[in-house]
Amino acid sequence: MQTKRMDICVLGGAGHIGLPLSILLAQRGLETLVYDLNQKTIDVVRSGKMPFLEEHAEPLLHEVLEKRKLHFTTKASDLAGVPAIVITVGTPVDEFLNPSTKAIQDCIDSLFPILSDDQLLVLRSTVCPGTTEWLDEYLKARGKRLRVAFCPERVVQGYAIEQIRSLPQIVSGTTPEAEEAAAQLFQALAPEIVRMSPREAEFGKLFCNAYRYIQFAATNQFYMMVTRAGLDYAKIHAGITQNYARMSDFPRQGFAAGPCLFKDTMQLTSYSNNQFSIGMDAMLVNEGLPLFLVEQIANRVELAKATVGLLGMAFKANSDDTRSSLSYKLKKALRLRASRVLCTDPHVTTDSELLPLERVVNESDVLILCVPHQAYRGLDLGKKPVIDVWNFFNRGTAMPAELRG
Ligand SMILES: NC(=O)c1ccc[n+]([C@@H]2O[C@H](COP(=O)([O-])OP(=O)(O)OC[C@H]3O[C@@H](n4cnc5c(N)ncnc54)[C@H](O)[C@@H]3O)[C@@H](O)[C@H]2O)c1
Repeated sequence: MQTKRMDICVLGGAGHIGLPLSILLAQRGLETLVYDLNQKTIDVVRSGKMPFLEEHAEPLLHEVLEKRKLHFTTKASDLAGVPAIVITVGTPVDEFLNPSTKAIQDCIDSLFPILSDDQLLVLRSTVCPGTTEWLDEYLKARGKRLRVAFCPERVVQGYAIEQIRSLPQIVSGTTPEAEEAAAQLFQALAPEIVRMSPREAEFGKLFCNAYRYIQFAATNQFYMMVTRAGLDYAKIHAGITQNYARMSDFPRQGFAAGPCLFKDTMQLTSYSNNQFSIGMDAMLVNEGLPLFLVEQIANRVELAKATVGLLGMAFKANSDDTRSSLSYKLKKALRLRASRVLCTDPHVTTDSELLPLERVVNESDVLILCVPHQAYRGLDLGKKPVIDVWNFFNRGTAMPAELRG
């Protein structure tokens, strides 16, 4: 039971998006309530530790805990009377690659007994177009007339503390009052507010992720084309981007994975009745990259007799998050063909099958750098053949010459 009066509650506040936001709100002096169903993570946060890697977060967490500005609960009843509630629960796609609306609905249903008309409800999770209006109607149909807003999160995971304070914040509301209240809330954090209607903001957030996913697919497809031709894509990429403004934002090749890009592209695909062909193609290309690597190795070595080592199991560099990591897709595909697959990662703590780096390097016939963690900088891999999609080791991206059938 909370005794202090809270200014704001972040629902899902122990998660990747909710926790950095909660810390920054508390740092701005707001009495901030973290509401999350995950008691274990709450205990970790309450003890002053970040439950995942997040740049610059831990010192701020200590600061707000010391100042007693950050509070915790696992009980929905504690949200009664809190003026603003920000929803940051996960919004996955289901087994049919359709958005699962259940997460938002379950969480609203659990709040019904405490919701009051003077509260502001801010959706911050990434949602399918129409969800904010649906939520407004759903509440009204049950006699609740809260102000409902949608203010999407656009930070790069792991860098939220800096980016919440530096990126423009898109703000929308189902009424001018809701929009204004949400704008005032985020003015305390963001340098710039961009106003849109809820549906524009919902599309806009999904476009940010889908566009990035499509860009990665373009470069990944070029990489595969060129690698099949026996050439070094890194050399071509460096050449065509050198002092050429038109190509300055052309991304490098590599695994495009994680909990957002794929599923948000699928949200748009589902919304448009599968008439989002470029998004579907991007999915096939990006999800096909690990399978391409298996094919490339199989063309050169007798996989059934080979041990393959995977360096990096997180979904991206310098992260400990394995959600939707393509390293695991690669591992699964290789397990069907190779004698052994050994995996390692300097940051991941949630996988009991991981082995020390040295052992993976020593026992593998072929290494694949799945994730370009900074911790691998300067690594001595001896003469082991390394497939380095990222060109992290600066030896080019063509298949290593040592790989001979
Ligand atoms: N991860 C990112 O970088 C990123 C960036 C922008 C937007 N988003 C969006 O933000 C949303 C959250 O993503 P995330 O990565 O932070 O997910 P997450 O799984 O890390 O966090 C969600 C949190 O919500 C909690 N939770 C779930 N249901 C709850 C409920 N009913 N009541 C209270 N707590 C509940 C979970 O315990 C968890 O701690 C998603 O919609 C995602 O698409 C994520």
